[in-house]
Amino acid sequence: MGPDDLRSFGHRSRLKQMAYSNADYAGKPVIALLNTWSDLNTCQTHFPQRVQEIKRGVWQAGGFPVEIPVMALSETFMKPSAMMYRNMLAMEVEEVLRCHPIDGAVLMGGCDKTTPALLMGAASANLPAIYMPGGPMLKGNWNGVTLGSGTDAWKYWAERCAGNLDECQWRQIEDGIARSPGHCMTMGTASTMTALAETLGMTLSGASSIPAVHAAHGRMACETGRRIVEMVWEDLKPANVLTAEAFDNAITVDMAIGGSTNAIIHLIAVAGRAGVALPLERFDEISQRTPVLANLRPSGEFLMEDFYDAGGLRALLQRLRTLLHLGCGTVSGKTLAHDIEGASVFNDRVILPLDKPLAKAGATFVLRGNLAPNGCVIKPTAAEPRLLQHTGPAIVFKNYADLKARLDEPELNVTPDSVLVLQNAGPTGAPGMPEWGMLPIPKKLLKQGVRDMVRISDARMSGTSYGTCVLHVAPESAVGGPLALVQDGDLIELDVKGRRLQLKVSDAECARRKAQWKAPEPKYERGYGQLFCQQITQANEGCDFTFLHRGKATPEPEIY
Ligand code: FES
Repeated sequence: MGPDDLRSFGHRSRLKQMAYSNADYAGKPVIALLNTWSDLNTCQTHFPQRVQEIKRGVWQAGGFPVEIPVMALSETFMKPSAMMYRNMLAMEVEEVLRCHPIDGAVLMGGCDKTTPALLMGAASANLPAIYMPGGPMLKGNWNGVTLGSGTDAWKYWAERCAGNLDECQWRQIEDGIARSPGHCMTMGTASTMTALAETLGMTLSGASSIPAVHAAHGRMACETGRRIVEMVWEDLKPANVLTAEAFDNAITVDMAIGGSTNAIIHLIAVAGRAGVALPLERFDEISQRTPVLANLRPSGEFLMEDFYDAGGLRALLQRLRTLLHLGCGTVSGKTLAHDIEGASVFNDRVILPLDKPLAKAGATFVLRGNLAPNGCVIKPTAAEPRLLQHTGPAIVFKNYADLKARLDEPELNVTPDSVLVLQNAGPTGAPGMPEWGMLPIPKKLLKQGVRDMVRISDARMSGTSYGTCVLHVAPESAVGGPLALVQDGDLIELDVKGRRLQLKVSDAECARRKAQWKAPEPKYERGYGQLFCQQITQANEGCDFTFLHRGKATPEPEIY
C-alpha cells in the first residue's frame, strides 16, 4: 500500500472504495481470515460470527483484517468424498496466500478435511499463520440417551437393519443427533485433527477442545486475531513450529486420544509439506509406548463436551508430559511446556489416569504382509478383541456398487467368520478414497446378533466408525496391488499382534492372477478428476499430489 507508484495507487484507491481510509491500513499487517464457511458446511455455521470476533482482535492489535473465502469442504455433503478435494483446498490456500498482499493468516476450519488442507497450504506458503479450530457441537440426545456423531448413527442403523428400531424412533434420532453448530463431537477425524493442530503448536493453547457454541469459543477467536498480528511482527512462521519433534508429539497425542485412522494420512501429508518424513512405522512405534487416556467415543464412552469440562487437551497434554517434547515452539511464541503450565484434569473418568488407561498401548497398529506390502492400518481399540487374531475365507466385492448390490442377497455365502474384502475403493480406484472401509454387516448376520466381522479394503473409515476394519491397504487394488488379486474363498489371516495381513495363496498362484489382471478404465478423461487420479500418492505417502511436496520452494511473485 505504501510506495508512490501506480500499482500502490490502485491498492489504496480500491481500499477507499470499501470505505477504509489511510488510518485503517497504513503501516499495519494485512491479516487474511481464510474462511472455509458455506451453507453446506453445516459444522461451521457459526463462522460468520467468529469472523467478526477475529476481526475485533486483529483491529485491537493493530492489524488490518480481510476475510477471504476458500473452498468449504463439507464431510456430509460432498461426493464421492471430501477427501477428493483436500488437496484442492490446500492448493487454493497456498496460492491465495501467495498472490495477495497478505502478511499473516488466520486459518478457519473444523470439519474433517478443512484442518489438514489449511495446514498443508499454510506450511507450503510459510507466512505467519495460526489455526482457529471450529470446535465440536453439543452432545446429541434421543429421549435421554446421549448420541455421538457418526458412531451412534452407525450403531442405531445396524439396529434398524436388524429390525430393532421402527421408523418413528429412527426419525427421533435424526432430530437429536446434531443439535448445534460445530463439528462432530465424537473423537472422529475433526476432533482428532483439531487436537493435533493444537499439539503441533498451530493454535492457541486449549483452543481445540472448546465447544463451538460456548462463549469461550468467541473469546478464543478474538484472542487468535490479536495473536496473529503479534506473530507477523515476530516473523513466526509455520516452519518454526512444524518440526520433526512436533510431529512426534502429534502422533503421541493421536494415540492417546484414540484418534481417527484418517489422521495418519493427514499427518503424513502435512509433514511432507514441512519437509518432515513420517514413515508409517513411526505411528506404530509411538503407538506401542502410548496409553489411550481419552475415554471418548468411538473407542470409549464420553464426548467432546465432557472432554472440555474435564480439562480438555491441555489437561491431557499435561498428563502425557513425560512422553512429549515439551521444548517445541508454538504460535504463542513460547514452548509447549509453557503453554500447558497449570493445566489439570477435573474428571478422571473422561481423561483417564496413566495407570488406568483405556488401553495400555496400541491405539493404531500398522500391518504388513503379502496383502499389503506397503502397509495398512487397524484401530484395535475400536474392534472386537476376538477378531484381532482371525483366519477366514474371503468374500470379495469388486467395488462399492457390487457390495451394495450383493451384500444382503439371501444366497450370499457369508458367515460370521467370513472376511469381507472391498476392492477399488482407494485413492485412484474410487477415486478419492472415501470412508467406505467400515463395510456394513450383512443383514442376515445382523439379525443373528453379529455386530463385527473382519473387513479389509483400500478405503478409509470415518473416525467415528468402529469395528475390525483393516484400512488403507497399499498399494491399492486399482493400481495392481495384491488386494486386486483376492478371490472368493481365499483364506486371509489377520494377526494384529504379529502385525501381519496374509493372503494364504501361493506366490505362483498370485503371479498367475497378476498376469491376468487388467487395470480399471480411467474414470475421468479431463478436469480435476483426471489430475487427481494421475497425481495422487498412495495412503502410506499421505495422498498428497506428487507435484505439491517436491521441488524447491516457490518464489514470491514480483509486483510491477
Ligand atoms: Fe463435519 Fe463430521 S461432518 S466434522
